[in-house]
Amino acid sequence: MSTGMTRHFLRDDDLTPAEQAEVLALAAELKAQPYSRKPLAGPQSVVVLFDKSSTRTRVSFAVGVADLGGNPVVMDTGVTQVGRGEPIADTARVFGRMASAVVWRTYAQAGLEQMAQYAGVPVVNALSDDFHPCQILADWLTVIEHKGELAGLQVAYVGDGANNMGHSYVLGGATAGMHVRVGAPEGFQPDPAIVADAERIAAQTGGSVTITTDPVAAVAGADVVITDTWVSMGQEDEKAERVALFGDYSVTADLMAKADPEAIVLHCLPAYRGLEIAADVIDGPRSVVWDEAENRVHAQKAILTWLLERS
Ligand code: CP
Ligand code: NVA
Repeated sequence: MSTGMTRHFLRDDDLTPAEQAEVLALAAELKAQPYSRKPLAGPQSVVVLFDKSSTRTRVSFAVGVADLGGNPVVMDTGVTQVGRGEPIADTARVFGRMASAVVWRTYAQAGLEQMAQYAGVPVVNALSDDFHPCQILADWLTVIEHKGELAGLQVAYVGDGANNMGHSYVLGGATAGMHVRVGAPEGFQPDPAIVADAERIAAQTGGSVTITTDPVAAVAGADVVITDTWVSMGQEDEKAERVALFGDYSVTADLMAKADPEAIVLHCLPAYRGLEIAADVIDGPRSVVWDEAENRVHAQKAILTWLLERS
């Protein structure tokens, strides 16, 4: 169903800095005028497939595809044949014959790459073990709303630096020209290959990437403070050891006192109060998590529209 070079959004650096800015501007436009663009009129369909649990991603893609004039086909992998071992390549070719885009929440990044290779239509990463790029678009839209711009801001991400959110903040922050500081314990710092990619991007955008084991150094003077669960989906067996190890990285009022007094707090949700973030922080005046959750809809409508215009 596609012509020419189909674009995908599998990791944050699939958008250049200029393209990320374009998508974020479109997201703001679609937030102001939610029904102004109908790239999926027909309706054309979008497959939205989940190997893992989801609340926000599931609802925001279903709502967003409908807003764009399309028909969301939302499925759990367990009820599909790919869940019984049908090859991803075959599944991709079938989706590409029936739908205008594929959105997939899965485990391995390699599976997404295979889906993109064979689908012939845009494929969007709705969270993998390595990246959550749609979340970062929503987060940066939120930061723009509260801080006016992205370039030059100091962003601190504390907790599990080696998970999907840690990697996406490093890459997506460098793309936006931000100064990203990750505070994470040894063994849970972002993949050095991803940090190297982010540093190459930061050299063009004026941003920077700093990795430290010290949560206070990460947060000192920050404009934006972010955390995520210490136990990502698929890591449930490691919960006890992770909770013991990450204790010093909890975003508490004491840690927030080190940030800029006007700092905002983000969390992609779901949040575990008393673990990675204190209740008085996530439920307090610096928290923008509900704007952030809503912005999933607007950001994803923007990336879908942008990709469909190019496929
Ligand atoms: N933040 C996020 O992706 O939430 P869900 O897991 O509920 O989709
Ligand atoms: N790091 C979390 C993000 C959830 C949206 C996970 O992968 O479970």
